[in-house]
Amino acid sequence: MMQNVQNQSFPPVIKKGPYTSEVIENRKISEDIYILKLRSPEITQNALPGQFVSIKCKDLLLRRPFSVAKVYDDDTFALIYKVIGEGTQFLTGLKPGNTADFIGPMGNSFTIEDKNPLLIGCGVGIAPIIYLAQKMDEKGIKYNCIIGTRTSIDLDPISNPCFLTEDGTCGLKGRLDHHLEDIIAQTGTKKIYICGPNPAMIYATRAAKKHGIEIEVALEKVMACGTGVCMGCVTEITENGEKVQRRVCRDGPIFNGANIIWE
Ligand SMILES: Cc1cc2nc3c(=O)[nH]c(=O)nc-3n(C[C@H](O)[C@H](O)[C@H](O)COP(=O)(O)OP(=O)(O)OC[C@H]3O[C@@H](n4cnc5c(N)ncnc54)[C@H](O)[C@@H]3O)c2cc1C
Ligand code: FES
Repeated sequence: MMQNVQNQSFPPVIKKGPYTSEVIENRKISEDIYILKLRSPEITQNALPGQFVSIKCKDLLLRRPFSVAKVYDDDTFALIYKVIGEGTQFLTGLKPGNTADFIGPMGNSFTIEDKNPLLIGCGVGIAPIIYLAQKMDEKGIKYNCIIGTRTSIDLDPISNPCFLTEDGTCGLKGRLDHHLEDIIAQTGTKKIYICGPNPAMIYATRAAKKHGIEIEVALEKVMACGTGVCMGCVTEITENGEKVQRRVCRDGPIFNGANIIWE
């Protein structure tokens, strides 16, 4: 028998754009890292931590994905990007008053749980971690947060950060693998959230397994469509003991770290 659709509850359908938004600020915060602020109520009202936007860069065919790093009360949001190639080089030229064309929010999101969380962002992986910290602050969840970069970085303040710089210019000196075991012991965390280069995520995943801690990782994969259609970002993971293929752009970018098959 047909169900009365009026009585069913559907999740809200969120439009993904494309949107044209005003550039509010584009500022260098470290050697080759910038913070880009755009005005978009669609993102500030709908984006969850771990989700990303894909920006059209000049006349390049493929949009470039960047994690939402923070939202502000005035309907603006921030991205933190590292200059890599043509697309990100183009972004450095954007000035306040220019516009940016993007789609989003894309992908899934971190599961916010009050399990004495330890948040870890390394390199530009700090972007989704800062947004996760903002959402945990809003929910009154206490957390510890490691911000690991090569050198010091000019960021908006976040609660309870532990800075880790390779050159020792801010906070602890060294890399994640030099300090993670001590930090796990000191904090007694039951859940780690991490985004960063693969070696850091592999190290954290192994440490989590060793100590019986849950871990969510934000994967990065070179993307083509960024919307789940082309299968260009497929990665193999395990689920219930079986190998399965998942799209990083649509099924991810957030996955249970214990399920990742690291290459
Ligand atoms: C879900 C997701 C979220 C991301 N969030 C951020 C972020 O918050 N901040 C940030 O700085 N970067 C982020 N990235 C990486 C960012 O998308 C790439 O650095 C960017 O697309 C490079 O574009 P480009 O045109 O400057 O360089 P290109 O000229 O396209 O590429 C230069 C080099 O970078 C490599 N590359 C291209 N795209 C990616 C990619 N997606 N991941 C890894 N390497 C890539 C290429 O293989 C090439 O060697 C994210 C990527 C994904 C998939
Ligand atoms: S990039 Fe096309 S399916 Fe993910």
